[in-house]
Amino acid sequence: MKADREPIVALTAYDYSFARAVDAAGVDVVLVGDSLGMVMQGHPDTVPVTLQEMAYHTRCVARGLERAYLMVDLPFLSDHDAASALTSSSVLMKEGRADMVKIEATAEQAPIVAALSAAGVPVCAHFGLRPQRVGQMGGYRVQGRSDAEAQAVLADARALEAAGADLLLVECLSASVAAQVQAAVSVPLIGIGAGVDCDGQILVLQDILGITPGRPPTFSHDFLADAGSIPDALAGYTQAVRARTFPRPEHGFQ
Ligand code: KIV
Ligand code: NA
Repeated sequence: MKADREPIVALTAYDYSFARAVDAAGVDVVLVGDSLGMVMQGHPDTVPVTLQEMAYHTRCVARGLERAYLMVDLPFLSDHDAASALTSSSVLMKEGRADMVKIEATAEQAPIVAALSAAGVPVCAHFGLRPQRVGQMGGYRVQGRSDAEAQAVLADARALEAAGADLLLVECLSASVAAQVQAAVSVPLIGIGAGVDCDGQILVLQDILGITPGRPPTFSHDFLADAGSIPDALAGYTQAVRARTFPRPEHGFQ
């Protein structure tokens, strides 16, 4: 799809009913995100989510999918070294039937990505803003705004691709830096709050249905407000990403 410049549509889901609806809407990649800590469990961040909770939601979602590719997050501290990342991936792929795991990683974690790849685990590397690191990063801040940060993000992208990442995902990243990453790597780049030039887009289900707890993120859009039903809202999101009418420049960070 990247080679054909065909936008990749990704969306989160956490349960069987929504997995079916998201699959039916034609979403290409369904993510069981550790954002379930917030939207399913009511926590302020993703830190407390456990591997067993991820596995449970993954089993529920997997039963609802017929065609979409299933990506699942490795939760905080389930992947701090190669051995733990392999054990955790085994749970998510064998019990949960995940097709791919997603790991929050920079160049520093490239050896962990390499170990997963060598073992045959399809891997997505998530960088730019890494929500599991909120305690170290001191809040949710747009990444890549200084030259030094931009160079570091580009170096991360190259190191993660070289380590065997099959997919890259960037969150809350300066749109121009995301465009440079997209051009620098041959694997697909999925963005959230990362501008219009990524190979695909992902959003959180609750955000596009207008039921986000608290203030909705500026990079998202309430597709249910434009539609008459949940299936139409999901189809509207899919069509907007495919037609490149979402995101617009104002959804990104310059
Ligand atoms: O957990 C999640 O929903 C995510 C997306 C925001 C990419 O990681
Ligand atoms: Na996540």
